[in-house]
Amino acid sequence: MTQSALADDTSLETIRAWLERTCAIHYPPGKRALLQQRLGRVQQSLGMRTLNEMANALHCPDSREVQLAIMHAASTNHTYFFRETDVLDQFRKDFLPTLATRPEIRLWSAACSTGDEVYTLAILIAEALGPEALRRTHILGTDISAPVIERAEAGIYPRDRLEQMPADLVQRYLRPVGLNRFRVTDDIRTACTFRRMNLKKSPYPFQHMFQAVFCRNVLYYFTPSDQAEVVNAIADVTERGGWMFTSVTENLRELSPRWQYISNGISRKTDKLT
Ligand SMILES: C[S@@+](CC[C@H](N)C(=O)[O-])C[C@H]1O[C@@H](n2cnc3c(N)ncnc32)[C@H](O)[C@@H]1O
Repeated sequence: MTQSALADDTSLETIRAWLERTCAIHYPPGKRALLQQRLGRVQQSLGMRTLNEMANALHCPDSREVQLAIMHAASTNHTYFFRETDVLDQFRKDFLPTLATRPEIRLWSAACSTGDEVYTLAILIAEALGPEALRRTHILGTDISAPVIERAEAGIYPRDRLEQMPADLVQRYLRPVGLNRFRVTDDIRTACTFRRMNLKKSPYPFQHMFQAVFCRNVLYYFTPSDQAEVVNAIADVTERGGWMFTSVTENLRELSPRWQYISNGISRKTDKLT
């Protein structure tokens, strides 16, 4: 191995370890090439000559820009409206009726990417409980990546992100804003708020408990110990008997006694402590 290849390898390992330590995003050995490719793009956009320069910049006092760029590049942001309809059907049939008389509805989408999931939940609430329910609804969407949070706030999506959404709902809750682009209506958007937030940093800074938390398609990027830390920290900000929705492939059963398995992708908070 040449000197520069060796330096690149060491720098890649420095950045990989930093990502896992600070963001919980775990790149196993089989995905190092993917990480290298993603970091190559960051290196280019920041005008850095080597990976070593980037690894060093991570630890400088003014490293924020580099850190944010790496966090964004290292995360997989794939998402779309009405993803995994089986879980959403249960949310609609079993969970939403429990909110009918609650004065305030508080939900959190804990890794929301560009917001598609957040707006999907608001649309399901408007459909199930009536549009006036949106006035007492607060859905928070958070993500570690700053660019996806900006896009979530804008609420504008290309047509292919709406393919799984029933056509009549697209008509009701999205307006065309140019060629094949659609914007979520204002009444849906006012029920939704977005913030950048890192799930690795707990305890989470919320004063009021959530009735349900969506943490879908993100846990499988974390190691089992980070998964356990995250789902326990989510339990701390979820009300007693509250619900957690994950992807059907992400199972909390082995992770924490604080969550009781209900069905694939759905758990409820128990009274047990860790
Ligand atoms: C595949 S998307 C999932 C989006 C949506 N929940 C869904 O199921 O369609 C995963 C998201 O998790 C975010 N993410 C990764 N690590 C995170 C962390 N430590 N804190 C917050 N968000 C994180 C990524 O930026 C990405 O947008």
